Amino acid sequence: MIANLVKEVENSFKKQFKTDPLIVFSPGRINLIGEHTDYNEGFVFPAAIDKGIALAIQKSEEDISKVFALNKGELYEFALDHIKPLKNGDWRNYILGVVAELQVLGKEIGNFNGVFSGNIPGGAGMSSSAALENSFVFGINELFNLGLTKEEMILVSQKAEHNYAGVKCGIMDQYASMFGIKDSALLLDCRTVTSKPYKIDFKDYDLMLINTNVKHDLAETAYNDRRKVCEKVSELLGVVALRDASTSDLEKIKHDISEEDYQKALYVIEENNRVKKFAAAIEKDDLSTLGSLLFQSHDGLSVQYLVSCTELDFLVTQAQGSSDVIGARMMGGGFGGCTINLVRKSGMEAFKKEVSKNFKDEFGRACSIYEVKLSQGTHLVN
Ligand code: GLA
Repeated sequence: MIANLVKEVENSFKKQFKTDPLIVFSPGRINLIGEHTDYNEGFVFPAAIDKGIALAIQKSEEDISKVFALNKGELYEFALDHIKPLKNGDWRNYILGVVAELQVLGKEIGNFNGVFSGNIPGGAGMSSSAALENSFVFGINELFNLGLTKEEMILVSQKAEHNYAGVKCGIMDQYASMFGIKDSALLLDCRTVTSKPYKIDFKDYDLMLINTNVKHDLAETAYNDRRKVCEKVSELLGVVALRDASTSDLEKIKHDISEEDYQKALYVIEENNRVKKFAAAIEKDDLSTLGSLLFQSHDGLSVQYLVSCTELDFLVTQAQGSSDVIGARMMGGGFGGCTINLVRKSGMEAFKKEVSKNFKDEFGRACSIYEVKLSQGTHLVN
């Protein structure tokens, strides 16, 4: 799969630019548990996957840079000075953002040509944007010998997302995409930005992603609003971030905030605790606890944090009704995208059939189902 993407971008690059490129592969990610905890300086449990972006990139002697989005058949040419975010810039803004944020760091970069292609379904909550940002920051760092560490590169990617895509995201997606380890998930502390890898083997069970194929237009605004609520409550509590608060701390200011804000902050504190419990359950191979933590997480995301949607709730209800699924929840920012499910290997085919049919009957359109492998983070291919 990755090999095909790499060949595609390499061939297209050579045809258009008549030189040999560097090739970077940067993966998307899943997240086992810990949703909306990253920007609260809490814990998350993501993993890089075997789907991502392949980028062919090389220096250019011309006085503009050219990037070709192979999947879309779109070419974008831009000058390196006076970079600004574009209105409705789509994929272009992630690249402009990376270049601009490198310039903010005082890094000297020259013109380049790039061709990229990817196989992460867009809007699925599998971080195609982080993969794209990381592929460019990694490629440009390599081409122009900028000497950035991976830790520095992911901050550039995150700033590109904040300032050029307008999403005030945490660090989870960029971290997982950059630092992923084969067959492992990373218990990431988003305050220290350091992680502990856990080898993942769910024995008789495996992960299955089910995509609602829904993406809400206002998801970015709703995401930024959630972040503001968390910051407001932290300030009232006198803590740096909700990571530092307990449920009893929150109880004390319950009457100073709205019920909705209280529930949101409570969700974050509880979800952060669930991540730690999840890590402990992995160490004990305690699958039933893993499963029930996933269901609890979904419940919190849906009822307290209000970031689910009808289609996601439907999929989780289907999972709850199946004897082959021990846990499921929505994954990523929310308002659409995928659920992540822990499904008995022997029952996978049956569950796939059943959920696909029921989803179609309910919504009149298809959901998509993926199995993913936990994989290595952003790396040079050649
Ligand atoms: C998006 C953001 C991440 C994280 C998740 C929710 O994927 O980019 O930083 O906040 O949502 O957990």
